[in-house]
Amino acid sequence: MDPSATREQWGSSTSFILATIGSAAGLGNIWRFSYVAGENGGAAFLLAYVLCVLLLGVPLVLAEFSVGRCARGDVVAAYAGGTSKSSWAAAGWLAVVAAFVLLSYYAVVAGWAYKYFVSYLFGTMSHLGRGDYGTYFGDFIARSFDAVLWQFLVVASTVGVVVAGVKRGIEAMNKVLMPMLAAILLLLAGYSLSLKGGAAGLAFLFDPDWSALMRPSVYLAALGQAFFSLGIGAGALLTYGSYASLKTRLGPTVLVVAGGDTLFAIVAGIVIFPAVFAFGLDPAQGPTLAFVTLPEVFRLMPGGSLFAIAFFLLLSLAALTSAVSLLEVPAAVLIRRLNWSRNKSTIIIGAAVFAAGIPSALGFGVLSGVRPFDLGILEAIDHFASKLLLPAGGFLVAIFVGWVWTKEQAFDAAAVRTAWVGRTWRFLLRYVAPWLILLTLAGLILP
Ligand code: TRP
Repeated sequence: MDPSATREQWGSSTSFILATIGSAAGLGNIWRFSYVAGENGGAAFLLAYVLCVLLLGVPLVLAEFSVGRCARGDVVAAYAGGTSKSSWAAAGWLAVVAAFVLLSYYAVVAGWAYKYFVSYLFGTMSHLGRGDYGTYFGDFIARSFDAVLWQFLVVASTVGVVVAGVKRGIEAMNKVLMPMLAAILLLLAGYSLSLKGGAAGLAFLFDPDWSALMRPSVYLAALGQAFFSLGIGAGALLTYGSYASLKTRLGPTVLVVAGGDTLFAIVAGIVIFPAVFAFGLDPAQGPTLAFVTLPEVFRLMPGGSLFAIAFFLLLSLAALTSAVSLLEVPAAVLIRRLNWSRNKSTIIIGAAVFAAGIPSALGFGVLSGVRPFDLGILEAIDHFASKLLLPAGGFLVAIFVGWVWTKEQAFDAAAVRTAWVGRTWRFLLRYVAPWLILLTLAGLILP
């Protein structure tokens, strides 16, 4: 029997949009966006970021959706079947590896968010005073059992959703969680804006220091962030697109998703920076911004512990909806190739992801002496995945849709209706995206 005949589909275009925004909006928008923007000059970075989303993000997301929906199959089948040259299956496997590796350490960071949520909820952090949070965080991530336990809980909850299926698991979860996340985010932003002294935070986020725009490193950071935040290059968008109905209009969907993801990051910035500035803290703290700097802010804020509970709930759930999209990539491949049940595929791949993530979880404690390329384990794997695997995945999608597919195939798959839109899309895929990606890859090698 043709397996595509029984393949699951989203219940509606709205469900597809919600699931994709769920995939896009995650740790990347809150934890990663805030510290990368903090390190790269705030508003100048935001400007470069929006440019990257428009020039690269939007065309690549549309390309992934098109390949997925056209094939109605998982990422390996989609690449292998979309052309006569089945060596393209390798591009599918690369995406599977990217999703797997990414999820392995994503679950570790998401675990920190789970842990902070539970700690704030039960008040176990209330004894901490000024300057204690750095030590608290450092001690927590260094304790092997704790780090692995919370990582395990993230993987287990992700498996729990994916096991339930595309409609009953992924779609149902996003339908409940995404509106809830939007509500929490807006409430937090409103409160943060009302803080005295927060205006400096808004200026940091929206009033660019133009000289920062002359630094190439700002664009490199913006490009990497756009890939990570939109979720390009690991087959997650492709796989979600493969469950989309032929009636769904992909072009407008991409605009809503890219706009929604960007807005999510900006509003998260409105939550974080006014609060950081109102209490005189430094926004350029790096990856510990959300776990060390923000708790300092929460301690000083009136109602800060409630704010903290809501913030870490937001971070945990946003991470879960993203992790689910990453797990679905390899799960869908196993289900088809090995003809395993969804249960079996998901649990086995989940166990493998958990095992693969353990070194990342232990890298701050017992394995802190292991420093590949002079970086911590999690950081090194993050560099490898987000600076190498994801851009490589994005490059291959651009080549596949821009050069391997004919113009007719591409326009058909994306259901392009307006000639100039299609031409612009194809031009960006053929001539702009590959070069920009190669340039960023070159930036890795150059000092
Ligand atoms: N976009 C998510 C975030 O911002 C993470 C994510 C989900 C992702 N799917 C992806 C990143 C695919 C890269 C590729 O947190």
